[in-house]
Amino acid sequence: MKETVKKFSDHFLWGGAFAANQVEGAYNENGKGLSTADVSPDGISHPFDMSMTKKNLYHDAIDFYHRYPEDIALFAEMGFKCLRMSIAWTRIFPEGDEDQPNEKGLQFYDKVIDELLKHDIQPIVTISHYEMPLGLVKRYGGWRDRKVISFYEKYACTIFERYKDKVKHWMTFNEINVVVHAPFTGGGLIFTEGDNQKNIIYQAAHHQFVASALAVKACHEIVKNAKIGCMLAYWPTYPLTSKPEDVWAALSMDRETMLFTDIQARGVYPSYANRYFREHGIEIQIQEDDLELLREYKVDFLGFSYYMSRTTAASTENADTTEGNLIMGGIKNPYIESSEWGWEIDPKGLRIALNILYDRYQMPLFIVENGLGATDVVEYQKGGPAVNDDYRINYLRNHIIEMKEAIADGVELMGYTSWGPIDLVSASKAEMSKRYGFIYVDKDDEGNGTLDRTRKKSFYWYQNVIKSNGEVLS
Ligand code: BG6
Repeated sequence: MKETVKKFSDHFLWGGAFAANQVEGAYNENGKGLSTADVSPDGISHPFDMSMTKKNLYHDAIDFYHRYPEDIALFAEMGFKCLRMSIAWTRIFPEGDEDQPNEKGLQFYDKVIDELLKHDIQPIVTISHYEMPLGLVKRYGGWRDRKVISFYEKYACTIFERYKDKVKHWMTFNEINVVVHAPFTGGGLIFTEGDNQKNIIYQAAHHQFVASALAVKACHEIVKNAKIGCMLAYWPTYPLTSKPEDVWAALSMDRETMLFTDIQARGVYPSYANRYFREHGIEIQIQEDDLELLREYKVDFLGFSYYMSRTTAASTENADTTEGNLIMGGIKNPYIESSEWGWEIDPKGLRIALNILYDRYQMPLFIVENGLGATDVVEYQKGGPAVNDDYRINYLRNHIIEMKEAIADGVELMGYTSWGPIDLVSASKAEMSKRYGFIYVDKDDEGNGTLDRTRKKSFYWYQNVIKSNGEVLS
């Protein structure tokens, strides 16, 4: 029998993760087109301000576009082995359906990627993170139209060709299953009265599955020694009680999430999809070669975000729904505390998630998002401004402890990139005050501030975690 080892591998990828639109700003510089995020000033829930009359923090974000050398130097100081970043599709194809890419957009990522490599930080690139070109929404209705597959394929091939010698880890779509919960953010979908929304959502998802398989194919053809993964927002679902009906409700809810990785990691629509589709009036169009493509071009690894678990019951009437869980359709777990934003804090759930995913897919896993969104207070001490974010350290420490347990359980874990290593604009709230960073950014919800960067207490803590390869967590 192999010995049980609670240790991270020598090649473990420690780092941080962010998305282009949440950090870059410069939303209309050097030929960049408008993305869905640029017209979504209130975040996921009210995304339809096409007139762009409201203040939108994404437009300037934290100005990573101009400050990337300073920010990357700070990541290097923490000892990052990798940075999970995304490329803004609209910098490369501003409207989405052009014939030729925007050279200036590519040049920006040339510089960012070179800067990372200069510091020995591996770029891990998400091809599409929540911000498709608005042009594709206006002309094609977002991912509901099959034509968008070829635009995505062209975009993916363009960046594979450009960065094939520099980027070896890729991910096709951020949190692909979020199209079910936030159709505009995940799929550029806008509904009109009378639409069969579920049908449109799953048709759009099917187009994304095919696009993702084509990207896997192209990536392996173009980029030598590449690994390309999917990315799932995962919340393992617990039953509220041991009542069989509650257990079934939890299993069913989990399947709505798993359907996505069942397809991307196993290469087939799972058998339970038939009944689910039939009972929800979903009839999607699948073309002849699609299923073969899905089967042939499965992902190499499974990336996922983990922020919380989810709880449900057969009857959710009179149930306590916290804000965070409500987004994902869950109810309050009486045994777990929540963050200020109602996201339930459940480190053990990460061990559970890792074990469930590994048991099911038997492929390398990568935690590509995890972190605590909290209000930070800047204290002015003798040495200058300071943020004593012990709550964040606590949160991360407890999750890393469970990662070690999962490794001892036998899970193959490639790395950990905590979400928002530098404060950034929140995706669900489009505000600054929900902060995740090890680095504080002086900017408030109105967009005021110097944008100065300050190392928080957690910065030094994470530096030690990485230096000791996860041995020193105190
Ligand atoms: C994930 C997204 O869902 O959660 C990120 O991939 C997002 O883009 C992160 O920022 C945290 O969510 P929020 O709403 O707190 O920013």
